[in-house]
Amino acid sequence: MPGSRITALGHHQPARVLTNTDLERMVDTSDEWIRRRTGIAQRHIADGSVADLATEAAAKALASAGLEPGDIGMVTVATCSAIDRCPSIAAQVAGRLGITSPVCFDLNNGCAGFCTALATADHAVRAGAAQHALVIGAEKMSDITDWTDRSTCVLLGDGAGAAILSADDAAAVGPVVWGSDPARRHLVRLVDEWQPSFAQDGQSVFRWATQELPAVAAEACRRAGIATTDLAGVVTHQANLRIIEALTDRLELRDDVVIGRDVVDSGNTSAASVPLALSKMVSRGELPSGEPVLLFAFGGGLSWAGQVVTCP
Ligand code: ACO
Repeated sequence: MPGSRITALGHHQPARVLTNTDLERMVDTSDEWIRRRTGIAQRHIADGSVADLATEAAAKALASAGLEPGDIGMVTVATCSAIDRCPSIAAQVAGRLGITSPVCFDLNNGCAGFCTALATADHAVRAGAAQHALVIGAEKMSDITDWTDRSTCVLLGDGAGAAILSADDAAAVGPVVWGSDPARRHLVRLVDEWQPSFAQDGQSVFRWATQELPAVAAEACRRAGIATTDLAGVVTHQANLRIIEALTDRLELRDDVVIGRDVVDSGNTSAASVPLALSKMVSRGELPSGEPVLLFAFGGGLSWAGQVVTCP
């Protein structure tokens, strides 16, 4: 069975930046509190829609891959913030980019959405259902933020990242480790169906992510046939710098491993956070081409998904 490979990446963040100092004027908080508890210094806020963000990131990935729109056989968008149900965000992206007859679908698996979509596309490409897939994570979290709730509004941001996944003789996207704990689904949720806003039991989520998930992340490496010490990079869901540091501290990693810390500049962009961080790191030349990088995301559901990939 052939494998698949990420051949190109792209990302987009809105120009408007909301700093912690800006938030001090909106709710009872401080730059010092936000940095100490979350590591976040700023986040980007979009004026446009999730489809706008997704299209910008996808166009960059497509151009970087050197493919024609007609080459793409699948478009999937991981998002939990889009209010559009039909046409899907994926169909809106395909239509705007002139992609002619792809299978299009959106996927909601909370913050684990991009890694879930990447695995789904990998399986489809391996099965011969598509030669090239466009896999996008895009979120406008500012639409589902309660801007009067200081415990959550300081965390979230908007953005998008996209990957082109192409059939390849090598399996450059490793086996997925994915799953969920539905009994604890209430720990991350959207409240109020008419004007939904993000809510969570922050301390329970923190304990889950730092105590239970390191073993799951290590399992993704084991399934890829490598040790955690073989990793050149680790890009986890960008929820909170303290989670990223506690989780990666519990993996046995090399001293020179490159760890994604985009949460500092972007906040938590849910399903967009992994491809956004990955694309920025690759564009800055921080992740060596062809070396193993662990992608690992987790969030609402409670859900998780991750795999070892090699970067273009
Ligand atoms: N500014 C100032 N004070 C605040 C703020 C704020 N923005 N938010 C809360 N506080 C106060 C609280 O009111 C509380 O005050 P009190 O002691 O007088 O009652 C105090 O700070 C401590 O509040 P906690 O909620 O206990 O703060 P905690 O140390 O747990 O930090 C945080 C909160 C940062 C959310 C933490 O729980 C966390 O990181 N959780 C992980 C959540 C996460 O990242 N989830 C991601 C998965 S879900 C997803 O990505 C979509």
